[in-house]
Amino acid sequence: FEVDWDPGMAEKAGYDHFMLKEIHEQPEALSQCLAGRLDTTDISLDDVNLTADELKQYDRIQVIACGTAYNSGLVGKYAIEKLARIPVEVYIGSEYRYRDPIIDDRTLVIVVSQSGETADTLAALREAQDKGAKVIAICNVVGSTIPREADEVLYLQAGPEIAVASTKAYITMLMAFYMLAIYFGRAKDLLADEDSRRLITALKALPKQTQQLIDENEDKIKALASEFANQENSFFIGRSIDNAVAIEGALKLKEISYIHAESYAAGELKHGTLALIEEGVPVVALATQESVLDKTLSNVKEVKARGGVVTGVTLAGEREIEDLDYRIEIPETEELLTSILAVVPLQLLAYYVAVERGCDVDQPRNLAKSVTVE
Ligand code: G6P
Repeated sequence: FEVDWDPGMAEKAGYDHFMLKEIHEQPEALSQCLAGRLDTTDISLDDVNLTADELKQYDRIQVIACGTAYNSGLVGKYAIEKLARIPVEVYIGSEYRYRDPIIDDRTLVIVVSQSGETADTLAALREAQDKGAKVIAICNVVGSTIPREADEVLYLQAGPEIAVASTKAYITMLMAFYMLAIYFGRAKDLLADEDSRRLITALKALPKQTQQLIDENEDKIKALASEFANQENSFFIGRSIDNAVAIEGALKLKEISYIHAESYAAGELKHGTLALIEEGVPVVALATQESVLDKTLSNVKEVKARGGVVTGVTLAGEREIEDLDYRIEIPETEELLTSILAVVPLQLLAYYVAVERGCDVDQPRNLAKSVTVE
């Protein structure tokens, strides 16, 4: 009697790849990230020892990270600036040290790293500390070097992430930034009880909404993947937070499917990229930001007029949008929080396109999960 048993499959819990498993684990990862940290009107980050008085001293935040973690910082910038009105600069780890960064005792540094071992991020952390900055680390791997050296740590609690392309770590990094933004906003007395309550209620709903989004859209996205599979170029556009998510969507697609994917602030299209749009070129338009929706849709029109094939990611219940070839709807949430939901279809799209192209999804060529050389 022989059992046809593949230990790899067992670890993947029946999924074909770790990446797909990790995409499906996101609702649970988000719940774990929130666990014990939400009150009805306040965020309690017991692990981050930063008093309201101390926070008020900071007049600038610098976020430093690499790859997907850097992309999470781009969303973090919106959230912190919006809720806490502290200017945020986001730096790539490998660039930070060589620019003679301006740091003083009114600068708070946040480093972000799934592994906690990325050499460039670690070097930047040390540089910031040498210059006297306090450093908060947002990390997933408990006890890794970056959280050990940082002054304060906010753990993602996402569980182990194996696939090189980061998914559940990214989504929990976004959650960590939202929690920090509310925490800072409250500490600075800028966020009224009512507004904070509304945001926290919306945060709590996100794990279930993420599950619903996967359940309702996975088959549709799988089918859509064939639209991309034979292409060599693609574009991702969006405005404001959607622009930050577009950057992550493009990175996911290029790193695992090897299709050239570029992201653009939708309004920048006409300053160059529009020249590359021709018949059949796939464009993903993120359009979840009600306040700039009409502007994004006029950019979609420009793409359509040149023959681009547009997939829109919009809020459920949004009006009819005639220029879209395909539409993926995400559950309704606060305008500031859409990034957590909007990225999920982009992860699934990258995954199914890569599978269709026969790529090694979990181990893309030339890439490593953790880069410990500078
Ligand atoms: C590598 C991985 C990426 C990751 C980046 C930063 O390039 O392939 O998925 O985003 O490193 O890693 P970190 O562990 O610091 O988040």
